[in-house]
Amino acid sequence: MIVLGIETSCDETGVAIYDAANGLIAHSVYSQTDIHLEFGGVVPELASRDQIRKTLPMIKQLLASADITLSDLGGIAYTSGPGLAGALLVGATLGRTLGWALGIPSLAVHHMEAHLLAPMLEPHRPQYPFLALVVSGGHTLLASVKDFGCYELLGESVDDAAGEAFDKTAKLLGLPYPGGPELAKLAEQGDPKRFVFPRPMTTKPGLNFSFSGLKTAAATLVRAQKLDEQTKADIASGFQEAVVDTLMIKCKRALKQTGLKQVVVGGGVGANQLFRQRLKELDVEAFFPRHEFCTDNGAMIAYVGAERLMRGEVDALEISIRPRWPIDSI
Ligand code: KG4
Ligand code: ZN
Repeated sequence: MIVLGIETSCDETGVAIYDAANGLIAHSVYSQTDIHLEFGGVVPELASRDQIRKTLPMIKQLLASADITLSDLGGIAYTSGPGLAGALLVGATLGRTLGWALGIPSLAVHHMEAHLLAPMLEPHRPQYPFLALVVSGGHTLLASVKDFGCYELLGESVDDAAGEAFDKTAKLLGLPYPGGPELAKLAEQGDPKRFVFPRPMTTKPGLNFSFSGLKTAAATLVRAQKLDEQTKADIASGFQEAVVDTLMIKCKRALKQTGLKQVVVGGGVGANQLFRQRLKELDVEAFFPRHEFCTDNGAMIAYVGAERLMRGEVDALEISIRPRWPIDSI
C-alpha cells in the first residue's frame, strides 16, 4: 500500500510517500522559520495561513518528483493532533477530503506516536518492546512501548517541554528563533562548569520532568551577569548540560524500572549532539532517527498511517482534529 503522509501541526509543512512494502519513496519539508523570525516564536494564525498556501502545492510537487499519480495511492495519513488547531485543520481537511474524493481510506495520526516511531524509518530498527523518550518543542515524555500502538506513559513534563526551555533560554541570550539548535551551537564555545544549573525533579523518585525552573535560572543569570560573548556561551553550555543530564537521569531510571533493553529517541531535541553522544554511552542500545526525521516531517506520519491503515483502521466521515490528545488514549 502506498500512503501519502501530511504533517501540518505547527510551523513545518511535511509531505511524504511511504510504501508499506518497500519503505519511504520520497519526502519534503518546508519550514516557516523566516515568517516567525521577527516575532521570536510561532504566531499560530500566520502558521495556519502559510499551511494553506504550501500544503497542496507541495503534495503535487512531491507526487510529480516521485513519478507517483493520485491513482497509485492506497491511503492518506495526516496529523490530527496534538498541535495548533488552525494548522492541524489544514492537513486534516486536505487529507480527509482527498481520501474521500479518491475513494481511498484516510487516517488521523497522533503526532507524538509518529515522533516515537520515527526510528522505524531507519534501516537499523528497534524490536518491540522498548523505552521511548520523546523530546520535542511541545512535549517531553517517557513511554514504555510494548508493541505497535501500545504505549504506557511513564512520565512527562509538568510544565515546559525541553525544546521549549531551549527556545526560551536561547531568546534570553538574544539568539534567533528557533533557538534550540542556535543555543546548542553557542554551547560548543562555552564552559559547562562555570554556571551549574539545577537538575529538576531528579532527587525525588518519579519519571516526570520540569524544565521551567531552568529557564528561570537562565533569566536570573542573564540579569546578573555582564553578557559578553564568552558569558553567553558559558550560560548556554551550562544550560544544555543540565537539560541533557536531567533527560539522561530519567532515562536511566526508566530503563531500570522497566527492565527494557533498548531506548528509542524522537523529537526535535533528539537532534542535539550532546544528547545523542550521552545516549550512545548507555549500556543499552539507543536508536535515533536521522536528523531530518527528529524534527517535524511527513515521513513519520506516512509510516504510522501505513501501519495503521494496513491493520484496517480508517477515519470516520467527519474531519476532526485533537489539539490536545494524550498519547496513552490512542
Ligand atoms: O519535534 P519538533 O520539530 O516540534 C515539535 O513537535 O514540537 O521539535 C522542535 C524543538 C524546538 O524546540 C527546537 O528548538 C528543538 O526541537 N531542537 C533542538 C535542536 N534541534 C531542534 N534543541 C536542542 N538542540 C538541537 N540541536
Ligand atoms: Zn513535533
